Amino acid sequence: MQDWSGGSTMKTMSTLTNARVLLTGASRGLGEELAVALARRGAKLVLVARGEKELARVRARIASEGGSAVAITADVADMEAVHRVAAQAAAAFVSDGKPGGVDVLIHNAGTLGPSPLELMLDTDCEDLERAFAVNVLGPFRLTKAVLGHMTLMGRGLTVAVSSDAAVNAYPTWGAYGATKAALEHTMRTFAAESEGSGLRFLVVDPGEMDTRMHADALPAADRSTLTPPRVAAERLARAMEKAMSDEATFTRVELGGAS
Ligand SMILES: NC(=O)c1ccc[n+]([C@@H]2O[C@H](COP(=O)([O-])OP(=O)(O)OC[C@H]3O[C@@H](n4cnc5c(N)ncnc54)[C@H](OP(=O)(O)O)[C@@H]3O)[C@@H](O)[C@H]2O)c1
Repeated sequence: MQDWSGGSTMKTMSTLTNARVLLTGASRGLGEELAVALARRGAKLVLVARGEKELARVRARIASEGGSAVAITADVADMEAVHRVAAQAAAAFVSDGKPGGVDVLIHNAGTLGPSPLELMLDTDCEDLERAFAVNVLGPFRLTKAVLGHMTLMGRGLTVAVSSDAAVNAYPTWGAYGATKAALEHTMRTFAAESEGSGLRFLVVDPGEMDTRMHADALPAADRSTLTPPRVAAERLARAMEKAMSDEATFTRVELGGAS
């Protein structure tokens, strides 16, 4: 098992204790609950989203439990913003004279694309382009920005939050599904090119969750059948702990349903 504790003498309760985590889409939904779940395990967090006030609220929630988080307002589809995020995260993680760096990168920010959902034939190319910019190009750019340092460290976990729409073709979910399939394949290929480097890649299908994205996509859904994001976040945190201890460079996990 790799040592992620940074040499801390603190009793390690989790492979995520003291891990330096850069998490996108942290202002609500799965991202907010994952931020809290990781902070409770002693991870150090940099949180990214566009909504400044919402991020500040999440940061305050973590601080109220004694956790540590820095918030960066940015659109992951914005090329310059992504490089700023990578640089600010590295700077935020400099401590005790040790160089900064990201141990765990989580691509959770996502967009449905056209909303309400549309048939492929009705989907504007510009809407598809925007969905690819948020769900694929942003994560690709951010991965490239942090992977060099992870490779030098000989360890690092990159997580991509995907969907079963990446695998199954559902009418009106085409734009979203195409971006998630591309995101997954991007991660698979990074992993194939990283064999033996100590890096780990985890793709997660979180299942249907009771979040704003789900309400935007399917407003009439019975919310009692949906997984609370807090439950999905706990499952994801456990999947991350396992991926960090596993030998496999690439893992794909389905987090399961509401029960
Ligand atoms: N809900 C489901 O049933 C479900 C199922 C399968 C997969 N997923 C995936 O799970 C992940 C989390 O979704 P969720 O359901 O928690 O959705 P959500 O409640 O809508 O949250 C999405 C998060 O992403 C951020 N975000 C969106 N666009 C962004 C951008 N361009 N730049 C930076 N941040 C951005 C949002 O913050 P701002 O708006 O403030 O930027 C928010 O923090 C997504 O990748 C989604 O595709 C969800």
